[in-house]
Amino acid sequence: MTPALALGRFIALERPDDFEAWRDAARACLMAGLTPDAVSWAGDLFAGESGAPPPLSDASQPRVSRAFLQLAQMAILHSEPQRFELLYRLLWRLQRDTRLLQDRADPQIRRIEALAREVRRDIHKMRAFVRFRTAEDAEGERFVAWFEPEHHILRRNAAFFVNRFATMRWSILTPRGSLHWDGETLQEGPPAQRGDAPQDDPAEALWRDYYASTFNPARLKIGAMLKEMPRKYWKNMPETALIPQLVAGARARELAMVDAGADLFADEQRPASLGAIADALQACRRCPIGCNGTRAVAGEGPRNAALMIVGEQPGDVEESEGRPFVGPAGRVLMEHLEHAGIDRARTYVTNAVKHFKFEQRGKRRLHKTPTAKEIDICRFWLDGERGLVKPKLILALGASAVRGVLGKTASLEALRDTPHTLDGGAELWVTNHPSYLLRLQDGQRHEAEQRFAADLARVAKRL
Ligand code: URA
Repeated sequence: MTPALALGRFIALERPDDFEAWRDAARACLMAGLTPDAVSWAGDLFAGESGAPPPLSDASQPRVSRAFLQLAQMAILHSEPQRFELLYRLLWRLQRDTRLLQDRADPQIRRIEALAREVRRDIHKMRAFVRFRTAEDAEGERFVAWFEPEHHILRRNAAFFVNRFATMRWSILTPRGSLHWDGETLQEGPPAQRGDAPQDDPAEALWRDYYASTFNPARLKIGAMLKEMPRKYWKNMPETALIPQLVAGARARELAMVDAGADLFADEQRPASLGAIADALQACRRCPIGCNGTRAVAGEGPRNAALMIVGEQPGDVEESEGRPFVGPAGRVLMEHLEHAGIDRARTYVTNAVKHFKFEQRGKRRLHKTPTAKEIDICRFWLDGERGLVKPKLILALGASAVRGVLGKTASLEALRDTPHTLDGGAELWVTNHPSYLLRLQDGQRHEAEQRFAADLARVAKRL
């Protein structure tokens, strides 16, 4: 059967998460010269009429970048009915402007990126919050979980659960479909209902004990906890029954923990690879920022990079995406790097502090500057990265980065314009943080950007 059927301008995919079918249909539509307004889409074969695909023309193959494909593969799993059309519109525009995807201010791109982000979050939530209960079937014990994903992520998560629970017999039931694994083969099944899964079993007590013993009162930030584990998931998670009483006793337990283990990390060995640092960072609770329950953002770039760029801390976007400098400040930095001829892909980009420090204001998370103490605590990780990458040059962006590199506060202006040799031989260069540029207006901004560009040009020359 053809993956997508089309009648004139109506295209119905057989499945709502079928990226390959959408891609083939979109390619045929592009080659047939169908404008976005001339095509309508549905993610369900039975949503309407269907017919033959648009005739294939001799037109040259459409151009599609890997970045677009990655974005589309994620966004297409969203439950937003307009997603196929949005993606086709973007694909259509990309045929005329191949650099369009770099324009993060473009409303259409922002919208699709937001869809992709929400899907990623749903994938992560499912991996974290699926809870199996025991049941019996004709072949014996089977673990069955009920989960309510917001998007079409079930199939996408199948390999994860097969790998994680390879030797168990299990089923995951959802209102969007189900998965059944017998230890060797995976089968898909129809949508299920909550009542199809067992509601309670003896394993629940184990989950509760486990949660109570791993619950870290020093990490308790109720807002962050609700964000990470929204209430809607609680009903399917046995351990959440304990949350109210654990929260109530949290403060007392926190004080006891501080007394008992003030210097828990003193003799700890630093991880021996960048990957190990990235993994270990997720569990870091050395300072109050690490305790706020957000995702740590490790540095990224080649292990043998000649240049290491150090920022202050991840921002809101960086925290959501798990990558440094991908938000507004990152865009400013990217523009200037490009202009100076510095290739980000060959640079190791990191931050003095690896968690996002913020203040919650309504739905917004407002950046807060880390304290000197927090920066000093996080030096453990920055030093680890420096020791592994051994960059020839380090470019510190702003005062927090300077403190992170030097371990003491120093005047940015006093250090600027000339290099400073660090222990170990690397050269330290210092300039403003790009967020500082973003806060300036008109003439002042222009002047500051020129100085920033000149600083980067000097670094590029040393490279
Ligand atoms: N600002 C920083 O200092 N680092 C980032 O990663 C993003 C914004």
